[in-house]
Amino acid sequence: MSDNKEIKKVTTNTLLKMKQAGEKIAMLTAYDFSFARIIDGAGIDVILVGDSASNVMAGHETTLPITLEQMIYHAQSVIRGINRCLVVVDLPFGHYQSNPDVALASAIRIMKETGAHSVKLEGGEEILESVKKIVSAGIPVMGHLGLTPQSIYKFGTYTVRAKEEAEANKLRQDAKLLEEAGCFAIVLEKIPATLATEVTNSLHIPTIGIGAGGGCNGQVLVMHDMLGINTEFNPRFLRRYLDIHEMATKAVQQYINDVKASDFPNQQEQY
Ligand code: KIV
Repeated sequence: MSDNKEIKKVTTNTLLKMKQAGEKIAMLTAYDFSFARIIDGAGIDVILVGDSASNVMAGHETTLPITLEQMIYHAQSVIRGINRCLVVVDLPFGHYQSNPDVALASAIRIMKETGAHSVKLEGGEEILESVKKIVSAGIPVMGHLGLTPQSIYKFGTYTVRAKEEAEANKLRQDAKLLEEAGCFAIVLEKIPATLATEVTNSLHIPTIGIGAGGGCNGQVLVMHDMLGINTEFNPRFLRRYLDIHEMATKAVQQYINDVKASDFPNQQEQY
């Protein structure tokens, strides 16, 4: 009997097959080596190096300030921690909207300098030429529709998108256009569950929902939110699996107490 423990890596084709087989896709964000190692080791299908790093890693209010260099740094760290999952990296605000050549140059930098497997862009028709250009260079692209945080100053709020028919129709058309342009999957963020299900059923490629209901082909959450590292963000769609904030606070308080009481280090903890 063979002792072949070769790891079967997740590819864009794996995700397509998962959709066809009705198997749900699990995606989480990660931004550093240590958490990427935990998340990949736990069996996640996809890690998104999200520009939400701007919020949860750098403490900015929006995703707009993060730079291409900072996204590359996060992606390089994540890639060193994974063995199996597919890694998607967000193109940051300002690095693909102006024209397709700029978009391709940004995507190429990410692919060459990080070893990541694909990029994600926010938007539909407005960025279609950029999507086509990147795909034609052989770089897999994930789309992102609905609440697109890089456009927060246009929306004005983080409330549910596409509740009105006109916006829902645009989203339906954008999803088709992104599929035709060659996207391998589309994130649907914070839109009504019925619309997300309808769009999912109209596409051949998988949809990954966040606040878009159970009809999507997969789900994504920001790691800091689902692990309870960040406790200020409490939208209805979030399920918190741990309260690291409380656990870490208690551990740090215990450490402070132990140091102050000269309890740490003890005899066994010194040379
Ligand atoms: O940057 C991010 O974390 C994202 C997810 C919310 C989908 O784009």
